[in-house]
Amino acid sequence: MKKLWGGRFKEKTQKTVESFTSSLSFDIRLWKYDIEGSIAHVKMLGKRKIVPMKDVESILRGLEEIGEEIQAGKFKFREDLEDVHMNLEHALIKKLGPVGGKLHTARSRNDQVALDLRLYLRDEISSILKLIKGFQKALVSTAEKHVDTVMPGYTHLQKAQPVLLAHHLLAYFEMLARDGERFEDCLKRVNVMPLGSAALAGTTLPIDRKYAARLLKFPRISENSMDAVSDRDFAIEFISASSVLMMHLSRLSEEIIIWNTDQFAFIELPDAFTTGSSIMPQKKNPDVLELTRGKAGRVFGNLTAMLTMMKGLPLAYNRDMQEDKEPVFDTVDTVKACLQILTELMPRVRFNKEAMAKAAEGGFLTATDLAEYLVKKGMPFREAHEVTGEVVAYCIDNQKTLSDLNLNELKMFSELIGEDAAGYLTVRASVDGRNSYGGTSKKTVLARIKQIKSEKWEVRSGK
Ligand code: ARG
Repeated sequence: MKKLWGGRFKEKTQKTVESFTSSLSFDIRLWKYDIEGSIAHVKMLGKRKIVPMKDVESILRGLEEIGEEIQAGKFKFREDLEDVHMNLEHALIKKLGPVGGKLHTARSRNDQVALDLRLYLRDEISSILKLIKGFQKALVSTAEKHVDTVMPGYTHLQKAQPVLLAHHLLAYFEMLARDGERFEDCLKRVNVMPLGSAALAGTTLPIDRKYAARLLKFPRISENSMDAVSDRDFAIEFISASSVLMMHLSRLSEEIIIWNTDQFAFIELPDAFTTGSSIMPQKKNPDVLELTRGKAGRVFGNLTAMLTMMKGLPLAYNRDMQEDKEPVFDTVDTVKACLQILTELMPRVRFNKEAMAKAAEGGFLTATDLAEYLVKKGMPFREAHEVTGEVVAYCIDNQKTLSDLNLNELKMFSELIGEDAAGYLTVRASVDGRNSYGGTSKKTVLARIKQIKSEKWEVRSGK
């Protein structure tokens, strides 16, 4: 079979070279976008009279038929045709004869593949944005149910101060909001049309790039043909935004894994989301969360792969860049799968309020509250810290909690301590007292939930 680029070749391509260079097995995913791009391109060629209108119409019909054949599973993709672009063009020529060969006028696979990848990512980013919002909604509705659930907040994985479970969950809501912003911002740079850059230098033919961009709903076209065919930073940005998102999902997974241990027993996971052990009958493992944590690693790996692949490439297109697609596709699949499964899981996690409350009682979590009480009575904070430390040491020696202490005991440490101190030393009082903006009190958390619910939730599509 003669290659579409075969003119100057005397020898047939080695079979092993064909399979080594073929990208069809993965770029087949781009077929819909390749057709969409070709449709806009040929309409533009017609408008500019570069290709006669009757040929444009045949090509459009041909492309439509090819699309239907692929959809119906009837299209025969051939690996020896290198990639999805060659497969579709070859099929068109087979259908229409030499007229089919007019489609590739003023175009190169270099601008074609850059276009396809951008069209693909534009759609996928908008699906990911929807999934992020969906997961955020699940977090907010779980948080709403737990505005009275008190738990220990941790630093260094040591109990630190009591917080509301709602506050803890909403911390992830905020992370996801920033993740969404990162994807939206990345979308602006994905949404630039490279078509019309041709191989690297533009074309002598009188094309109209802005017209093609309007058809493809691109708000911007690229300014430099060499940049347009050789840049993949839009894809790197996408994987970078995905990496930060996966890092967040991984941290949340890790927390749920810890909460699910017998030692913590803060939650119970539904049977439907856990798996058993093939040897230990008692086990119920949080595999979904472990896999999410593990999959973060593969997305970070994709980012490293892309940066490394690009860093040494001279302008403009180099075949190395064919290696861009698998990391992008794998990232899209991984991010979507993790968001989907966590969104399904979240409403089914059963929180053990009693265990959380009990954990918040021990460990002198209200010590800072006593120090702040003394500050309110006029003591400098450093001194208050010292005094409170002595109170804690006394409690440890006498096996008491802070709220067990009576007024006489407290007064041994400072004359400033009065009757009202007791009201500050319970876990609940500690939480409710933290009503600084962004703090954990029920009042501030409820205010944040109200604000979140009043925000707009629609997702940008980029089109
Ligand atoms: N399959 C190639 C890729 O994915 C398409 C571009 C090929 N361009 C070329 N000049 N060989 O990057």
